[in-house]
Amino acid sequence: MIQSSAPAKVYLFGEHAVVYGEPAVAAAVDLRARVQLEERGDSRIRVEARNLDSTATIDHDGDLEGVDPFLRYVFGAAKSAGARGLNVTTDSDIPVGSGLGSSAAVTVATIHAASRHAGLELSREEIASLAHGVERDVQGSASPTDTYVSTMGGVNVVETGRNRFEQVDTGSLDLVAGDTGETGATGELVEMVGDMSERFPSVRHVIKTIGEVSRDGLEALESGDTESVGVLMDVNHGLLEALGVSTPRLSSMVHSARTGGASGAKITGAGGGGCIVALGSGRSIESAIEEAGGEALPLSLDRQGVVSG
Ligand code: MEV
Repeated sequence: MIQSSAPAKVYLFGEHAVVYGEPAVAAAVDLRARVQLEERGDSRIRVEARNLDSTATIDHDGDLEGVDPFLRYVFGAAKSAGARGLNVTTDSDIPVGSGLGSSAAVTVATIHAASRHAGLELSREEIASLAHGVERDVQGSASPTDTYVSTMGGVNVVETGRNRFEQVDTGSLDLVAGDTGETGATGELVEMVGDMSERFPSVRHVIKTIGEVSRDGLEALESGDTESVGVLMDVNHGLLEALGVSTPRLSSMVHSARTGGASGAKITGAGGGGCIVALGSGRSIESAIEEAGGEALPLSLDRQGVVSG
């Protein structure tokens, strides 16, 4: 039996702007998706997602129409690594549809496991690139951030405008995510920001300014200046509010987390639901998030990325 696992991620800076080639900074965090492979006696692929109570079986060259969207990532990933004749079982600590990269993590872990099963020795860059292709196939356009960060672990800068994919040297990071329990429609939100940026040059400036905030945030992270990281997360949140991707619950959780002692707090991911991320740790931040209607998830940095086992 072969097993692999890969971590969730949070955007510290730069979501939405990353779609326009601006830099984003995202951290892998210690929630994992796990994948287990076993051979079966035919050439079909069966996927069972334990966390979702969902199962499907397809021919190795079969199409994915009508298959549960989450399972499509796993089939797509297994097929992209040349798999056939496998039972794939997945499980995950990462809430699905929350903006924490659950689909990227299961995709990366499946490619890692299936490629080892097929005797391929893929580099991490190759795994990240195949996983990004699977995300694009399943959900349409997607930036490479989630799949890259889940593969590499640690804090990473992704700036497609300069073909820049880099791990950043940082100290430990204490974070608390706040999950609204609502799913944001990423594609629609990306399209809405796109429409606004076409109509208004001022919105294009907001997007560029988010890129500047990411650059400042990166410098603050590299120099271990937590106070500045927090201030810049707050600024980034204000700019995401300006783009119209927040909701009353997300905004209230962000403000509550700050009052509860977080050094900074913002939406993480597309918005419209999903999660916030607050910088700091402790019961006071967690209860502040809960009082504003979220589920608090204490997180720390994952430095491993995708691994066997
Ligand atoms: C969604 O998690 C983040 C966005 O920047 C879209 C993407 O990067 O693909 C809004």
